[in-house]
Parts: sequence; C-alpha cells; structure tokens
Amino acid sequence: MSANPLIKKSNNALGEDGFLQVQSVSKKFGSDTVVSDLNLSIRRQEFFALLGSSGCGKSTLLRIMAGLETPTQGRILLDGQDITDVPAHERPVNMMFQSYALFPHMNVTANIAYGLKREGRAKSEITERVAEVLDLVQMHSHARHMPAQLSGGQQQRVALARSLVKQPKLLLLDEPMSALDKQIRQKTQFELGSILYKVGVTCVMVTHDQEEAMTMADRLAVMSEGRIVQIGSPEQVYETPSTQFAAEFIGSTNVFAGVLSDRRGQVVCADFEAPLDLGEMEQSAKIGQALRVSVRPERIRMQLAAPDIKAPPVNAALGTVAQIGYMGSYTLFYVTLVSGRTLVVNVPREVMMGFERAPDYDDTVLVQWSSRSMVRLA
Ligand SMILES: Nc1ncnc2c1ncn2[C@@H]1O[C@H](COP(=O)(O)OP(=O)(O)O)[C@@H](O)[C@H]1O
Ligand SMILES: [Mg+2]
Repeated sequence: MSANPLIKKSNNALGEDGFLQVQSVSKKFGSDTVVSDLNLSIRRQEFFALLGSSGCGKSTLLRIMAGLETPTQGRILLDGQDITDVPAHERPVNMMFQSYALFPHMNVTANIAYGLKREGRAKSEITERVAEVLDLVQMHSHARHMPAQLSGGQQQRVALARSLVKQPKLLLLDEPMSALDKQIRQKTQFELGSILYKVGVTCVMVTHDQEEAMTMADRLAVMSEGRIVQIGSPEQVYETPSTQFAAEFIGSTNVFAGVLSDRRGQVVCADFEAPLDLGEMEQSAKIGQALRVSVRPERIRMQLAAPDIKAPPVNAALGTVAQIGYMGSYTLFYVTLVSGRTLVVNVPREVMMGFERAPDYDDTVLVQWSSRSMVRLA
C-alpha cells in the first residue's frame, strides 16, 4: 500500500454501475439537436471515453455533465444524486482544461493551491494536499517553477494535479492532449492514464483520437450526430463492431454487402465468385435478407497465387496488388479484386520475412480469411 492517501485503486476492479447516469438527455441549439435522447451509465472508478468526429456533440455532452450547459431534456445523476439543476461550481465535478489554462503568473504550487484557497481551506491542509498531488504527478522538484519553464507534458501533469487536488467525484477531460505534438502526446497518455488509474477517480474523456481512447479508456462510446452508436471495451468495439460506422471509425476495415442465401450462413456477394461463408446464423436470420460484414485487414491472409489456380475457394478472392505501404511492424497492401473492388490487407512483418518472394506491384495474389474473421454489421 502507498502512503499517499490519494492512491486508492490497487486492482482492476471498478466500482458499482450507475455511478454517473445520463438519462434521456437532449440538447438543442435553436432548431439543431446536438445531443439526441442519449442514455449512458458509467461505473465508479471507470475511465470512459466519448469518441467521435468533430461536431458530433461530445463536448456538449461533457459540458452538460459539468453543468456548463443546461440540457433541453433529461437528467444527470452522480453518485445517487440528481445534479441536473446543481450549478457547475457546486458540483463535485472538475473539468480539466488544456495545459495553456495554467495561470502564467503563478508558480506550480500556487496554480495547484488556487482552487483550495478559493474554497477557504486552512493553510496547513492546503500545504499537505498540494504536496500529495505534486508527489502523485512527480512534479515535486518543479514546485517553484513557472508554467513557461515547463515542457508541454509537465504542464499537462500540473493541470491534472490542479484538478485532482480538489478530489472531485468526477473528472472531465475534453481533448486533454490536443495541444501536444504526437511523440509527447503518446508519453503523456501513458503518464496521465497511469496516474488516473492509481487515483481511481471516475473519468469521462472526450477525444476524436481513436488511439487515445483505446489506450486510456476502460470503455468507450462511439458517437455520431448526437447519439451513441456503440459502447464497449476497446477490444469489444474493435473486434465486434455493431455498425459500419463503428467498424470504420475504429481502425480500418473491409465491408462487404450481400444477401443471405442459406441458413447455414452462405452470403452471396457481388465482389466474390463463391458465396461468403459466415458460419452458423442465429434463428432470426432470413433467407434473402441483405446484410453487411466486416473483415479487418489483419485478419486477411495473402499469398502469391499459384499460376494454375482457377476458382478461388470460399471466403477468398483473386486480386492484383495495386499499392504497397511499408509500416514497420506490418506491410499494408491494397488488392484490387476481379470485381474492381479494393481490399485493404495487413501482412505482419514475420509473415513478410517468411515469404520466399514478397508480393510486389501487379502480382496476382490470393486473399482469404476464416468465417470467424467476419463480423456481421447491423
Ligand atoms: N453554444 C452553442 N451554440 C450553438 N451551437 C453550438 C454551441 N455549442 C456547440 N454548438 C454546435 O453543436 C455541435 C456539436 O458541438 P460539440 O459538442 O462542440 O462537438 P464536438 O465536441 O463533438 O466536436 C456543433 O455543430 C456546434 O457547432
Ligand atoms: Mg469538442
């Protein structure tokens, strides 16, 4: 056990569900519905990410949680209390702003102490609590520095310390890393993530960066046009996307449209000679039903086609290499099928090393995948 009282979380266990509840929340600006009848339940100690492209309503939803925006409809509950009508400054909620929101004329200690001073805390308590958060974010040695003397990542940690010192029940982060450049951003994601994990504060983070959401969050919600498209762990959403939007938003993928021709999961698809074989279908599946399936680029195997190959087997196609991108740990291929359709295929480095001759531009290749690699989309 750590001596630092801020460090509460010692294992993976999250607290109870429904710690933060968003109930049928809508927000209109004039005639524009920006958040649309949205429901969400977040667990105590959970790190939750709202992920979506610019303008989909993420910040508005976060600002409603913070009390900076009033919902047109719906309720917000935190730790059993309906806070919908509680003003922002009376909520046990803290919104972390970007690094440049530090007071430039105050040193690190004064920046962190500011909120506690405003609350009228005793000097001794302020000193103790500031020391604890400085310790937590490992900025003790910079306690007297001014913000301008700190790197972007260090400023970010001070901003985090300033939020955490108030011991909020809920911490809100709006694109917290957007001011940092890529290399520092990745390092800071890791640092902030591990600090927040140790503290165990419930967090909701808004981001349009899927990598950021996937590295930091316990669960994420993919948002589009004011609604949630899918909620799950990063792995669940990546491995079993529910819609084409979710599949394409997180990572890249190949989507095929077809018609179910057989209850054993045969799907006739214009891009392939033989039907795709999805495997066992659920009871509700109907013959003649249109459906879409997604196959991730790394689930497709690729090899040079044998010169005498005539018809490709099931879940496979012949194509021509149209584009090659060396990505280090894998090589990205664009393969144009006979139908004219282009597939994205990732070949891991180990597999590339094992080829007697690596597929090159204009080579004819056979691509194939297993039934298990296909996910049916809604
Ligand atoms: N105060 C406001 N008045 C009018 N329109 C707004 C206001 N705030 C946000 N919007 C609009 O609501 C939509 C969603 O904005 P926002 O929640 O900031 O999206 P995101 O954070 O996902 O990029 C945008 O079209 C934006 O222009
Ligand atoms: Mg925003």
